Amino acid sequence: MFLLAHLSDPHLAPLPQPRWSELAGKRATGYLNWQRKRRLIHRADVLARIVVDLKAQAPDHIAATGDLVNISLASEYPQAHAWLEALGSPGDVTLVPGNHDAYVRVAAGCAQERWGDYMRGDDGAVEFPFLRRRGPLALIGLSSAVPTPPFMATGRLGTEQLARLAEVLDRCADERLFRVVLIHHPPVSKRGRHFKRLVDGAELCAVLARHGTELVVHGHDHERSLVQLDGPKRRIPVVGVPSASEAPPGEHDPAGYNLYRIADGGNGWRCEAIARGLSPDGNDVIEIERTVLTGH
Ligand SMILES: [Fe+2]
Repeated sequence: MFLLAHLSDPHLAPLPQPRWSELAGKRATGYLNWQRKRRLIHRADVLARIVVDLKAQAPDHIAATGDLVNISLASEYPQAHAWLEALGSPGDVTLVPGNHDAYVRVAAGCAQERWGDYMRGDDGAVEFPFLRRRGPLALIGLSSAVPTPPFMATGRLGTEQLARLAEVLDRCADERLFRVVLIHHPPVSKRGRHFKRLVDGAELCAVLARHGTELVVHGHDHERSLVQLDGPKRRIPVVGVPSASEAPPGEHDPAGYNLYRIADGGNGWRCEAIARGLSPDGNDVIEIERTVLTGH
């Protein structure tokens, strides 16, 4: 049995004091939004409790799907790197970037530069998609993080990344690995999130329908969610996780993370998802729900 933990969107606090020169354009609105609203939502003490509970489960590996930082200030990246190091070693933690990690054009490549060891494939390259084999798992990391204009939080994979994804999925199927696709944005967005959607989500769904995967995990919406996509042989579970730092009560689910118990039962995979998170009163980290995604 392999135990995979997944968390996302820690939006690390406190936000360092920006330099005036950094507060042009989109960062200015993002900074005001943080000061007025988000600093009350994403709390370092909440995140610390979630990480303590996650580590107590002794997962074999940890996946993190982005939005470590908030407005991509230069000073946010070392702070986030220290948080990653405390979470685990680059061999034990796999990261993909979120839209807040590439918030403005000047910061487009910062996540890969600063946190590249956590996004490095087994071949040593920091390119997307990257592939890491861990136990029976193939962890396949995608980047949907692209800079966008103010008030937009869309993501994009692009045709080259999608073409390479198809190849990686086929190769890992041949190796009979349990394929886990890591992406920040959900492949399919809910109504009302048009300006926060993955713009080539339909193209990603088409690749998954044709080449298959055993699981997709994502963040971005700060909500617990489960969607089943069409696959070549069976449905593909696509699981969203809340932010790992959101204090209740808020407009989203309270802070949480997911565990996946994955085992090869001889005649197919068994995958059980266990959602853990803050209780509604915020006093305890508890099991929220348990769902068998694959097998019996
Ligand atoms: Fe986020």
